[in-house]
Amino acid sequence: MIHAGRHFLQIPGPTNVPERILQAMNRSVIDHRGPEFAKLAKEVLENVKLVFRTRGPVVIYPASGSGGWEASIVNTLSPGDHVVMFETGHFSQLWRQVAERFGLQVNYLPGNWRSGANPRDLEVRLESDRQHQIKAVMVVHNETSTGATSSIADVRRVLNQAKHPALLMVDSISSLASIDYRHDEWEVDVTIAGSQKGLMLPPGLGMNAISERALAASKQAKIPRSYWNWQDMLQQPGRFLPVHSGHNPALWTARSADHAARGRVAQCISPAYPSRRSHTCGGESLGTGNCLREPQGILEFHDCGVHAAGPQRGRTAQGHSGEL
Ligand SMILES: Cc1ncc(COP(=O)(O)O)c(C=O)c1O
Repeated sequence: MIHAGRHFLQIPGPTNVPERILQAMNRSVIDHRGPEFAKLAKEVLENVKLVFRTRGPVVIYPASGSGGWEASIVNTLSPGDHVVMFETGHFSQLWRQVAERFGLQVNYLPGNWRSGANPRDLEVRLESDRQHQIKAVMVVHNETSTGATSSIADVRRVLNQAKHPALLMVDSISSLASIDYRHDEWEVDVTIAGSQKGLMLPPGLGMNAISERALAASKQAKIPRSYWNWQDMLQQPGRFLPVHSGHNPALWTARSADHAARGRVAQCISPAYPSRRSHTCGGESLGTGNCLREPQGILEFHDCGVHAAGPQRGRTAQGHSGEL
């Protein structure tokens, strides 16, 4: 097959990687236990907090977003725990599967794949949980398979109004750095992200932003864990990735993350930055044919070039440069 010109991907992710980022990776291997890597790791771990809008710790694994899903579960929950998940589309189904494989009792609130999580459904569910059996509420922020975005602020409001102590876990794999996201302000306990969507990096990094409550829960959680253990990752601040336990870091993606986090990604998340809406029907990409029904499900992109994430197949927003 002959390719002419530069290939420009228009799929929900992995997204195009800007030239500047590709250049940043084009260097020789360094010692992952040496001072250069330690410095890189420390900077990435600090800067990426800006993207999540958190002051709390973020852990980064050599993994895809699914690794981040697994880490969120095994670090905070115990077999048999009850959790609530919303049926928003394909990725909510897959996350549910992970939860069930770890022995969780999933209360899957039904949805029609045309809109995001319905906070009223959660309200009703919590009303019947006076004993606080539900240990976590898990939401996909941007359902990549449909384009439906859920209001995390509304889900948090319902939990707070019910004075319910369940942890709030959010999959922001295709929303981080694409759609307004506020880990601290929305009191999210675990945010799961990956490198290959809004951050416009190659695949290879799975991330968890962690609240104090989630950290406390991790000390009681009983699901066995080894590779994903937050405590191992957090014991040695600045070491980034489980270096101490002998694993190799995803060096090249870490380098690219450094450039992305120091660059315009911080600018993209500034509330002062102009935003625009992109009307799309993302079901095409998974062959579901679904289109969004409700206006709140429409993706909102920040005007910063990071809009390749999310389901906007066949459409390039006005003014797109492909470069961060
Ligand atoms: C919303 C969402 N969650 C989870 C995943 C799974 O992530 P990964 O393929 O990086 O494991 C994806 C991947 O597209 C996604 O879009």
